[in-house]
Amino acid sequence: MARLLLATLRRESTMRRPVWIMRQAGRYLPEYRKLRKIHSFKALSGNAELAAEVTLMPLERFELDAAIVFADIMSPMPALGIEFDFDPGPVIAEPIRDRHGIDRLRQPDPDTVAPEVTQALRICRDALPDDVALLGFCGAPWTLAAYLVQGRGIKDFPTLRAFAAERPRLLDALLERLSALMGLYLIRQAEAGADAVQIFDSWAGLLSLADWEALIRPHLVSLLETVGAAGIPRILFLQNAPHLVDAYANLPAEAIATDWRMDLGQLQRRYPERAVQGNIDPAVLLAGPEATALQARKLLKSVSPNGHIVNLGHGILPTTPIASVEALIEAVHAEQQPAIQCANPTQHGNS
Ligand code: CP3
Repeated sequence: MARLLLATLRRESTMRRPVWIMRQAGRYLPEYRKLRKIHSFKALSGNAELAAEVTLMPLERFELDAAIVFADIMSPMPALGIEFDFDPGPVIAEPIRDRHGIDRLRQPDPDTVAPEVTQALRICRDALPDDVALLGFCGAPWTLAAYLVQGRGIKDFPTLRAFAAERPRLLDALLERLSALMGLYLIRQAEAGADAVQIFDSWAGLLSLADWEALIRPHLVSLLETVGAAGIPRILFLQNAPHLVDAYANLPAEAIATDWRMDLGQLQRRYPERAVQGNIDPAVLLAGPEATALQARKLLKSVSPNGHIVNLGHGILPTTPIASVEALIEAVHAEQQPAIQCANPTQHGNS
């Protein structure tokens, strides 16, 4: 059976829209919390067997159309010699603030970039039903640089923004290194079984459009082109960056994924050649299954089914009730799509 999510990335007609949830393997799952009592996040994501087990957890509970490998955007950073811990987000041992910080980055050996992640992908692909897509991912160069320069996730990343203003050439050198490593990493993930990849630019919106174009865009384009040239479908996610959405929608990617602040239907109409992904506010799920179903139906009404992957606008929150996740998936499955079915004559083939 075909993988619904991949057909949607190609903007083909499908029986219904695919649905998956950002951070779907995380802390809202009781079975995950149980495992976390024994192992730290670092231990779980650092071990291929355990990471694969966690990746598959939400698939055992819900009828999702994709699994996303359980890892962090920091997982490939040891290949550059960067040391970090989690508290709960990434904390960098020696933030990069000067030329020395860039010069001491290691030349990565392609075969040792997060081997636990590629191995987890192999285990997952073998275990997953054929119609479920497997997603790889990475952080966008800018979002990774945000942690490496700032040192940890801090509101509005002021040290990072000062660094961009004061040392643009150093930032350029750092982004170049990150873009090259992520290209390599995503290709390795595809070779290990990832059907498509998502690039998370969670901190996309920190700079103005002009600064984004001058400093960040070239490195994001280079990454997207490397991945595209390898034939890997790309989902590009940006968060809290309404002033950059058009600029992102013009980048080479099969799908653009946004947070809940954007009108996804409008975006889809402006860029009919792109698939779109999103974008229910994760906080709505905290309001319970009825509120979730209502919001889901609103989304389905406002976004055309062709080329729409249903998701949240950002990661699912730890206190999300399981019943809300069920309600979201049920709403997507319940959708009647006569228009789509008629649009695809092959589905009526022998009848
Ligand atoms: O949420 C996003 O914006 C997506 C991109 C992103 C990830 N990690 C991907 C991810 C970002 C910005 C991070 C950084 C990070 N890492 C944070 C954010 C907060 C901060 O302080 O900056 C946190 C809390 C971590 C550490 C981390 N990563 C934990 C504790 C976990 C376990 C599960 C959970 O949700 O608690 C993760 C998993 C993780 N990070 C996944 C992804 C895609 C795994 C895939 C999944 O759970 O489906």
